[in-house]
Amino acid sequence: MILFGATGMIGGGALRECLTDSAVECVLSIGRSKKAQAHEKLREIVVPDLTDYRTLAGDLAGYDACFFCLGVSSAGMSEVDYRRVTYDIALAAARALVQASPAMTFIFVSGAGTNASSKTMWARVKGETENAILALPFRAKYAFRPAFVRPMHGITSRTRSYRILYAVVRPLVPVLEALASKYVTTTERVGRAMLNVARRGYGKAVLENDDINAAAKGDA
Ligand SMILES: NC(=O)c1ccc[n+]([C@@H]2O[C@H](COP(=O)([O-])OP(=O)(O)OC[C@H]3O[C@@H](n4cnc5c(N)ncnc54)[C@H](OP(=O)(O)O)[C@@H]3O)[C@@H](O)[C@H]2O)c1
Repeated sequence: MILFGATGMIGGGALRECLTDSAVECVLSIGRSKKAQAHEKLREIVVPDLTDYRTLAGDLAGYDACFFCLGVSSAGMSEVDYRRVTYDIALAAARALVQASPAMTFIFVSGAGTNASSKTMWARVKGETENAILALPFRAKYAFRPAFVRPMHGITSRTRSYRILYAVVRPLVPVLEALASKYVTTTERVGRAMLNVARRGYGKAVLENDDINAAAKGDA
């Protein structure tokens, strides 16, 4: 597996599921920083410019799947800056990977509400990113659109505002899960769903929150 965003909340969940799954041989984490964690199956590459993979081409060959969990909150960002992180990094990575490992499954994490035609900046940029990735000639490609993600196993968000939000809403999460389970998932379920979809595929290319929960259970 190749993983982008392993230092974050969604990527941290995906990394945990990959490392605990005996069928996953190795995980290559690519990012601008390293995890404060060593594991025999984990190899990390720090890339100063995540839009340029020319020197890495040889490292990217032969992988079965890429889980692209790198992303940022649009709060306080201009469209140009948000697009640079969201679209430019994702597409640069995806284009390098489709050259090096065209037989892989590529999974891009966008989010609930993603829509390329939206007037809302983040939703439009994520939607355009989804569309561009889904048009690339990977063996299989998917967009995951989680809604509310409950962090598990001590995983925390890299984004301070989200950490505060999770702390505030934590007591309400059981109620939310009971009343609106369709809109709630967990870092564990997102990671399991990625592995299941990479192995067995899924009936549609864009997985909304309830599809992610179904895929985590093994539904295809
Ligand atoms: N958390 C949720 O509830 C949720 C729900 C729906 C969708 N999503 C989406 O899932 C994705 C990941 O979210 P998250 O909650 O895991 O976020 P997070 O905890 O803030 O982690 C973000 C990850 O992206 C990397 N990153 C951020 N900006 C970067 C940049 N400019 N250059 C290189 N790497 C950068 C971070 O690396 P560093 O460690 O180096 O900063 C980290 O690995 C995002 O696209 C988000 O919109 C999240």
